[in-house]
Amino acid sequence: MTLDMRRTIDPDTYFDHNLPPTNLQWAHDEVDKFVKTQSPDQRIVLVTSGGTTVPLENNTVRFVDNFSAGTRGSSSAEQFLAMGYAVIFLYREQSLQPFNRNYSHNTRGILSYLERINGQIRVKPEWEEKMGRDLDSYQKYTQEGKLLMVNFTTLSDYLFLLREVSLLVASLGPRVMFYLAAAVSDFFIPSHSMSEHKIQSASGDLTLHMNQVPKFLRPLVKNWVPLCFIVSFKLETDPELLGPKARHALEKYGHQVVVANMLNTRKCQVWLFTKEEAQNPAIIQISKEDVDAGKDIEQDIVEELARRHQQYIANAQQQDLSA
Ligand code: PMT
Repeated sequence: MTLDMRRTIDPDTYFDHNLPPTNLQWAHDEVDKFVKTQSPDQRIVLVTSGGTTVPLENNTVRFVDNFSAGTRGSSSAEQFLAMGYAVIFLYREQSLQPFNRNYSHNTRGILSYLERINGQIRVKPEWEEKMGRDLDSYQKYTQEGKLLMVNFTTLSDYLFLLREVSLLVASLGPRVMFYLAAAVSDFFIPSHSMSEHKIQSASGDLTLHMNQVPKFLRPLVKNWVPLCFIVSFKLETDPELLGPKARHALEKYGHQVVVANMLNTRKCQVWLFTKEEAQNPAIIQISKEDVDAGKDIEQDIVEELARRHQQYIANAQQQDLSA
């Protein structure tokens, strides 16, 4: 298979040439309802989580995917809820979800938490406390209207939903944070260039031509939600590139924070780049022992970002008063 990835597409025309997801109207209605039921000073965060797929055929049999399991996003969503945020969780279908994440994707499998006693199925005693806590939290936040989950699968689903949610929350301004932890594909095949049916192997090797996905951070920051607090993520595997690429993203898009992480150390260490700390980013790190003992670095990341978000809201209020 050969990949040829050259042409770029304008973000504005992307939506005219790709199909929206089937849950777009549902998501519009649910997000609208969710936002309207929050109190006027409620802080809201959109957490994006998991990886996008890029189909190779319109009737999709094969697609290109990436590694992201949604650990960062699902753990962060829990921390944001604990800190009093209302959370819109835009996640890849079948990736990790808040509170469920501890049971759904590990090698033990969900049945290993259960046993049958006198004909009744129940949670094994050693899991009761932890599962009970997660169940209570999940039910509390969903019943209180503080957690809304919206799912995507493909890159195109993700981009349509991201734009839809953005336009619905834009008027709430500084009290909304965007926490863009999803691993978004950089290359795709537009629907009109894709094979309609399953690509056949009879003709031998396959050469794919993929277009570059437009960087949606630009319209997001400049046009969709110019007043919101925006946190993007930068993932690299080459340590030499991480700092320069994070600084470049800040300069290019002009948003508030870039959280930079390396693929292999992302659970222990991240750097927070801002305009003021572009040369000397804050480091958030925990030890490998802490990770092994079950601590999530997202606790510290979210705490620090919530603090900065609070400051951003206060500054915006100050500016309003003096205007
Ligand atoms: O899910 P885990 O396994 O826990 O992994 C977490 C993570 C490593 C995926 C996460 O911490 C992370 O780094 N997410 C961002 C990965 C990514 O897409 O990086 P990027 O360099 O391709 O993009 C940088 C930013 O641009 C992202 O915030 C993305 O939302 C945005 N982007 C990307 C592509 C695109 N076409 N348009 C965009 O706006």
